Amino acid sequence: MSAQSRSDREEAVTGELSSGTEMPGIGLVGCGIISSCLLEGARLAGIPVRVVCDVDREKAERAAQSIGAAVQTSYEALLADPGIQAIIIALPNDAHYDAASQALEAGKHVFCEKPLTTSAAQSLDLATRAQASGLVFQMGYMKRFNPAFAAVRDRLEQVAPLTSASFRLTVSGDPALEGPGREPSSWHSDPGRAGGGFLVHSGSHLLDLMLFYFGKPEAVWGSLRRDASGNEYMNHFLFRFADGLHVSLQMVQTRARGLGYAGSVWEEIVEVNGVNGRLTARGADWMGKIPPRASFHPADGDGPRELFTFAGSQWAEELKAFVAGISERRCLGSTAVDGYRVDYLLEQLKKLEGRSDMLELDYEL
Ligand SMILES: NC(=O)c1ccc[n+]([C@@H]2O[C@H](COP(=O)([O-])OP(=O)(O)OC[C@H]3O[C@@H](n4cnc5c(N)ncnc54)[C@H](O)[C@@H]3O)[C@@H](O)[C@H]2O)c1
Repeated sequence: MSAQSRSDREEAVTGELSSGTEMPGIGLVGCGIISSCLLEGARLAGIPVRVVCDVDREKAERAAQSIGAAVQTSYEALLADPGIQAIIIALPNDAHYDAASQALEAGKHVFCEKPLTTSAAQSLDLATRAQASGLVFQMGYMKRFNPAFAAVRDRLEQVAPLTSASFRLTVSGDPALEGPGREPSSWHSDPGRAGGGFLVHSGSHLLDLMLFYFGKPEAVWGSLRRDASGNEYMNHFLFRFADGLHVSLQMVQTRARGLGYAGSVWEEIVEVNGVNGRLTARGADWMGKIPPRASFHPADGDGPRELFTFAGSQWAEELKAFVAGISERRCLGSTAVDGYRVDYLLEQLKKLEGRSDMLELDYEL
């Protein structure tokens, strides 16, 4: 498995920041939708964000007010600030490559929202430079820090040897009318700027979890359907791993409302089956505001047991891991290499539209 050892990850997920942790000066660029989750997470974790930056001054000022940060409208000026050692990039997907490259050149640690870039080639280039830089580069794949999905990762050995696994996401929506769920004028709904649609926005998280749990798959087949705007709204894939494990990924949009245990628009279920039992994790919203659930069903037990999950915030935990990682000079979350692998997989999956053959996967990193 390419994932970190269990003890490393537990420390990052459940540990308080130790008093010896060096607190870097942090600047955030991009004060849009996701910045509120990140800034709230930073506040809950006791991590100060010193400067927020957006080309739209009003948005920067609104974000700054919520946490008492300074405002900047020039990213270059933010990078030139000697009091800033780490940058959180929350910009549109097609701006990640340049912004992260500039941050690395300026000697800053980077926390980059997902996906790493909008092409596997750019992601390979960036991940290679991030590795060589000696700086910490963490991806914003916060589901690794979601208590339910983390609980499954922590217990894989208890159900092993593994026999099968599945990742299933069903979201209420009409693909033809709503695309990835946002207004048509937004960059989110423009596959050219976002790198894709539903598969990229939401599937990237599940691919990152798959890498976190099982390492790199070696082959994939399946099907993908896109609507007229390029949004991948029906996605069914089966991945084969070197040890013979098969893992399925299904992502669909449906007009049905009230999904899952919370009756929300979002139903996300991860199941891992092994000779010694079964693990299940369920999420009911992408923000993690509706408490997620996880259960362990041992092969020799009476039935499924709800797993203890701490009431923490996935956003706070991923940022604690970023700061702790900077102190230790190693990434304790999803790395730039993981970011490249997700983007490589996304590019390969898109090739499966209208094809029935199996693709062998050939990673550069
Ligand atoms: N982790 C998650 O689950 C999750 C969820 C939603 C979005 N995201 C990611 O977060 C990122 C941002 O998404 P969003 O939905 O917040 O987008 P958004 O459009 O709401 O916000 C982007 C902000 O960046 C600003 N901006 C653009 N170019 C800039 C520049 N050169 N300098 C300074 N500011 C600039 C815009 O004015 C805007 O306020 C994307 O990469 C997206 O994929 C992650």
